[in-house]
Amino acid sequence: MKLNIALLAGDGIGPEVIDQAVKVSDAIAQKFGHEITWKPALTGAAAIDAVGEPYPDSTHEVCKNADAVLFGAIGHPKYDNDPSAPVRPEQGLLKMRKALGLFANVRPTFTFPSLLDKSPLKRERIEGTDLVFLRELTGGIYFGEKGRKDNGDTAYDNCVYTRAEVQRLAKKGFELAMTRSKKLCCVDKANVLETSRLWRETVQAMEKDYPEVEVSYEFVDAVAMRLVQWPNSYDVLITENLFGDILTDEASVISGSMGLMPSASMGAEVSLFEPIHGSYPQATGLNIANPMATVLSAAMMFENFGLMEEGKAMRDAVNKALEAGVVTEDLANGGKAYGTKEVGDWLAANI
Ligand code: IPM
Ligand code: MN
Repeated sequence: MKLNIALLAGDGIGPEVIDQAVKVSDAIAQKFGHEITWKPALTGAAAIDAVGEPYPDSTHEVCKNADAVLFGAIGHPKYDNDPSAPVRPEQGLLKMRKALGLFANVRPTFTFPSLLDKSPLKRERIEGTDLVFLRELTGGIYFGEKGRKDNGDTAYDNCVYTRAEVQRLAKKGFELAMTRSKKLCCVDKANVLETSRLWRETVQAMEKDYPEVEVSYEFVDAVAMRLVQWPNSYDVLITENLFGDILTDEASVISGSMGLMPSASMGAEVSLFEPIHGSYPQATGLNIANPMATVLSAAMMFENFGLMEEGKAMRDAVNKALEAGVVTEDLANGGKAYGTKEVGDWLAANI
C-alpha cells in the first residue's frame, strides 16, 4: 500500500518521539512491502515561532491531502503563565480538530501484564482492564460561544450539541461495541444538563438498531468514581467533549504510564493519531521521553487502514521491549533506563 502521512511533530518531546514512530513504521513498511511518504508540517509553538500561528494554512493543506496525520505534542511553558498571550499553541490543536472534522476521539485504556504493579491502583482492581473512550471532539463547551460581559466581570462558555453530532459519535460507539464485548456506556449529566438529556434521548433512540448491544446510562460523577474502582466493568464509553477530556486523563492512570497510551481522532475523511501525553517540556532534547505511546499510535494508524498484522507487529514489539526491560526511565523502576532513540532502535530492529 502507498501511504502519504502528514507528520506534525510539534513541540517539546514531540519531535523525539515522532522520530521513533517514523523509524518503527518504516521498518513495518519494509517488512510488509508498503511505501510511506512522510510530509512534515509545522504546528504548535514551533509554528507560532516560525510563521505566527499554531495551525497555519500550509499545514492544513498538507493534512487535508494526506491519508492520515501522525501527531507528536504541542504546548510550551512560555505560554502557561501568560494568560494574555494573543495566540497559544493549544488554539492550533482546536482549530485543526475543527478544520479536519475530527469528531471522534478514540482513547483506549489497557494494561500491560508486565506493568500491572506500576499502576497506583491495586493489581486486582485493574487486571484485565481493556476499555475505550469515544470522546466527542468538535462540539460542546469547547466550541460554543464564549466571552465576557459586565465590563469583564462575567464570563460565559456555552455548551451546545445538535442531535446529528450526537448521532455520528454514538454510531461509532455502537459499531465499536459490536466488535468488542457489545457493552456501551453513555456518560452524561442528564440529571442537570439539557445537552446531556439530548445525548441520552438520541442514544436511546438508536438502541433498536443495535439490539445486541447492552447500553447503560451513567452520570459522569459516578463514572469518575467507578472508573478507578472497577475499571474492568467498562468496555466502550461514549461521552461529550469536556467530560471525555477529564475522564480520559483519569483513565490513563490505570495503565501505569501516560507514556504508553495512544489515541486516534477520526474524521469523515482524514484521521489523526497521537500519544495522549503532552509536550513534557522538562524532558525536551534529553533523550529520556518514552516513545511507546507514539509507536502505538502509529499502530492504530496502520490498523485504521485495515493493516491489522502490521499494527499487531508494532504492538508485539512494544510488549517484547517491556518484558525485556528495554524501557525509558519512567518505567525503569531503578533499573537500567534506555534513551528514547535506543528504545526506538530496539523496536525497529524487533519488527
Ligand atoms: C487533550 C488536551 C487538549 C484538550 C488541550 C491541550 C486543548 O488536554 O487533547 O486532551 O483539552 O482537548
Ligand atoms: Mn486533555
